[in-house]
Amino acid sequence: MKSKKILVTGGAGFIGSAVVRHLINDTNDQVINVDKLTYAGNLESLTPVSDNPRYTFEEVDICDAKEIKRLFKQHQPDIIMHLAAESHVDRSIDGPGDFIQTNILGTYNLLEQARDYWTNLQPEKKTGFRFHHISTDEVYGDLEGTDDLFTETTPYAPSSPYSASKASSDHIVRAWNRTFKLPTIITNCSNNYGPYHFPEKLIPLVILNALAGKPLPVYGKGNQIRDWLYVEDHARALVLVAICGKIGETYNIGGRNEKQNIDVVNTICELLEELAPNKPKGINNYKDLITFVMDRAGHDMRYAIDASKIQKELGWTPQETFESGIGKTVQWYLDNQEWCKHIQDGSYQRERLVNYS
Ligand code: NAD
Ligand code: DAU
Repeated sequence: MKSKKILVTGGAGFIGSAVVRHLINDTNDQVINVDKLTYAGNLESLTPVSDNPRYTFEEVDICDAKEIKRLFKQHQPDIIMHLAAESHVDRSIDGPGDFIQTNILGTYNLLEQARDYWTNLQPEKKTGFRFHHISTDEVYGDLEGTDDLFTETTPYAPSSPYSASKASSDHIVRAWNRTFKLPTIITNCSNNYGPYHFPEKLIPLVILNALAGKPLPVYGKGNQIRDWLYVEDHARALVLVAICGKIGETYNIGGRNEKQNIDVVNTICELLEELAPNKPKGINNYKDLITFVMDRAGHDMRYAIDASKIQKELGWTPQETFESGIGKTVQWYLDNQEWCKHIQDGSYQRERLVNYS
């Protein structure tokens, strides 16, 4: 297949870096990684591919219209994969401003620059152009008390400043497709986990706190349900949608791995008993570190995705089960203590526990 130029925003983040590694390792496409390098962006997650001549990094804020215009002109991308965002629900409760700025205004800016660039493309390049907006299942709100699954037609009902900002950006993307005919596609995915996950999210936080003999904070009763997907399965789905998805469509992506938070935390503790039996001084069982703390404000109880559309129409299925994926993930954190150390030397010191205890 002819090599494409793919501009990935947020490529230094957790999912973006998995997409960039996948594109460089498994395709012949060129990647332009556009990232502001906030606290969540880490170029060390790209070390495995950053020397590849098909990879370029641009440290740019997606809200900067002049710079985004320059990037489109200079790199002439065929596809935009837009992942850059503020992504942590707890941070959006502490301070929603950056979420409004990046997730809503940043997406608006990117769309406007893309529209200007696309409008002036030569016919052949114009026909192939795509803007893929990467979003979340949290836009659909809470499934508490039902067996329902989120489908592509579930009405939007976001609960947190984060999910409201993502819902807003989804609506704006759809409007740019309908009104201006910009060729857009949207994906909404469930909770990801896997290597290079920033340790303020549940799974990496629990692994690293356990290894350090620190409390494992479980919000409320720990009975909230999330649908977990291994990040490399998500990356494969995203590249498939970006290249083969139908313009104007939405695809839900999920693993059908619904787990209560407390079960996820217990599973990690059990894996660590096997894989890291030499515990910090004074710790008999990793599970003894589990600490129930104050619940998240507005906490959604259950998310679950119906991924049958992407499975039927594009032939995507996840390669990992939760059991295989969580085993690989725990082992990755044990094998990559340097990456973890550097991340923790920086701005983030697992401060959520302080705020919620
Ligand atoms: P992340 O927080 O790990 O990474 C976000 C990246 O975006 C970082 O590299 C950061 O530096 C960059 N960024 C932030 N603001 C920017 C700006 N103004 N300009 C340029 N770059 C900026 O996020 P993630 O977990 O990798 O999520 C990526 C995308 O996928 C987000 O849009 C998120 O909403 C969506 N998503 C995440 C999950 C999940 O489970 N993590 C699930 C579904 C969808
Ligand atoms: O559903 C997709 C979403 O998944 C993405 O859109 C978000 O970007 C991503 O951060 C994630 O959101 P969550 O809020 O579900 O992820 P988090 O890892 O923060 O929390 C997972 C669950 O665990 C949630 O119910 C809150 C709970 N939790 C979280 C932390 C950090 C705890 O019980 N203790 C904790 O310390």
